[in-house]
Amino acid sequence: MSLVKIEAFDVRNIESATIEPSPRLNFVVGPNASGKTSLLEAVYLLGRARSFRTAQVNQAIRFGQSGLMVTGKIRNDAGLVVPSGVHITRNKREIHLAGRTIHSSAELIRAFPVLVIQPASGALLEGAPKHRRQFLDWGVFHIEESYLDCWRRYVKALSQRNTLVREKRLREIELWNREVARYGTIMDGARERYAERLKPFFLQSAARFFAGFKFDLHVQSGWNKSKTLEAVLQEDVAADIRLGHTQSGPHKADFSITLDGRPARAYLSRGQMKLLVYALLLAQSLLMEESAGVSACVLIDDVASELDEDNKNRLLGFLRERRTQFFITATAEQIIKEAVDDDAAVFHVEHGQVMQSMN
Ligand SMILES: Nc1ncnc2c1ncn2[C@@H]1O[C@H](COP(=O)(O)OP(=O)(O)OP(=O)(O)O)[C@@H](O)[C@H]1O
Ligand SMILES: [Mg+2]
Repeated sequence: MSLVKIEAFDVRNIESATIEPSPRLNFVVGPNASGKTSLLEAVYLLGRARSFRTAQVNQAIRFGQSGLMVTGKIRNDAGLVVPSGVHITRNKREIHLAGRTIHSSAELIRAFPVLVIQPASGALLEGAPKHRRQFLDWGVFHIEESYLDCWRRYVKALSQRNTLVREKRLREIELWNREVARYGTIMDGARERYAERLKPFFLQSAARFFAGFKFDLHVQSGWNKSKTLEAVLQEDVAADIRLGHTQSGPHKADFSITLDGRPARAYLSRGQMKLLVYALLLAQSLLMEESAGVSACVLIDDVASELDEDNKNRLLGFLRERRTQFFITATAEQIIKEAVDDDAAVFHVEHGQVMQSMN
């Protein structure tokens, strides 16, 4: 999967930009506030119809404009070029894919998987568990076709159970326990299988940045696994009514990374945490490539922040070996000079203008 062309209109300070990126490394270089992250945001919008910077995608519309538009041509892994486009106005979102208007972003996400690694990605290790659940779910979504449907059914059943819990409708809660447990158990199984498959890729990526460290990855399902989810839900009814919500289930799942058996986040330095996030997200894209034959487009914002020269070179060396399409932002060109080879493209951004430089 790679983006062969993208046109962005009225995305933050970019009035209009057209680029034809390399299928491998693309460097986006320019001073602060020039529009580098905005260009990455445009690529992300094309793949997710959302922004990675804000939950209010409207904020990405250029000041004074009524909407933004991003169109692109995506070469899928079968070699076919598919046109796609996302148009966002203050109160509407329109998605086009292969000449059709589509109503769910799931189809777009599958057609053009985009991953982002940015300074805020630290939340994957340091933030609330929901970030880690989203990470697992995004990964499973791309390798298990039926997962989305199961996830939706679980969310619906859980919301129904929560309503009944708040209204203290005991008899009906019991009926819904079965439904929540049914989809919750399938979801949990899919997440566990995913984590097992991810682990070797994670360990392999982490070994590139950490010599002699013994990492491990553990999934916590969200309930006491010595019992079935249905039994736990049944036991929890009185306590759930007191709390006003369902306290056990995959919506409480999490995962942790350990280092020699200790929680990694309690012992690693900032730079090391950043490398660990790289290892996790790059492992996710590696697994996708290996297991589903689908390569994601990976956006790396602010590559140099918090990484020393050696680690930055290690990272860029790792990226260069991959066949994945990367978009990497940096403020200074010398930061990436050694990494630019014949297959790489460099884009200079200044005051929202994007220019491709010939290398
Ligand atoms: N909706 C908007 N309309 C117009 N301009 C915006 C909008 N939102 C943000 N901006 C401006 O766009 C400019 C580019 O922002 P962007 O985050 O892309 O810069 P950057 O090149 O990534 O900078 P840095 O190196 O500091 O990360 C900034 O001056 C920002 O204030
Ligand atoms: Mg930026």
